[in-house]
Amino acid sequence: MPIDHTLQNAINQHINSEIYASYLYLSMSTYCESIDMPGFAHWMRIQSQEEYTHAMKLVSYLEDRDGRVTLLPINQPPVEFDSVEDVMRQTLAHEQHVSQLINDLYGVAVKANDYASQIMLQWFVSEQVEEEKTARDVIAALDMVKGRSDALLLLDREMGARPAASPIATGTPA
Ligand SMILES: [Fe+2]
Ligand SMILES: [Fe+2]
Repeated sequence: MPIDHTLQNAINQHINSEIYASYLYLSMSTYCESIDMPGFAHWMRIQSQEEYTHAMKLVSYLEDRDGRVTLLPINQPPVEFDSVEDVMRQTLAHEQHVSQLINDLYGVAVKANDYASQIMLQWFVSEQVEEEKTARDVIAALDMVKGRSDALLLLDREMGARPAASPIATGTPA
């Protein structure tokens, strides 16, 4: 069944949103490196890589559906931030925004009566719950160490232990 045109456009738009998220987190990573927070920098770089894999899942999905991928321009992300707290608060806000975008995209798939796309998007719905929770957990940890540089150093070390992102999916997401 050929993919609905409106849905194809919406998926292409979302590929761009995931790529932008990857770009944003890479920018945050380089900021963290610039203020000597290598653990946070590492964590944000893996976060960036994960967003890239999300975009690739959608690219592969559109290809599997015999649709056409259109890569759109990527906006410039912010370069400067106030602190690692600021970085994490902006991360949570961005993830909440992406959750809304996924909800809207799911709505387009429902409207198009496209069950395959709805099943594919369910992975993203669950992923967003995880993404918001992870960002909230880091903010909670930062709130606890507030003002104590020794504790912040330990937290930075812990952030540096985040394992690498799972390899890029080449087919329909599992
Ligand atoms: Fe994502
Ligand atoms: Fe995300």
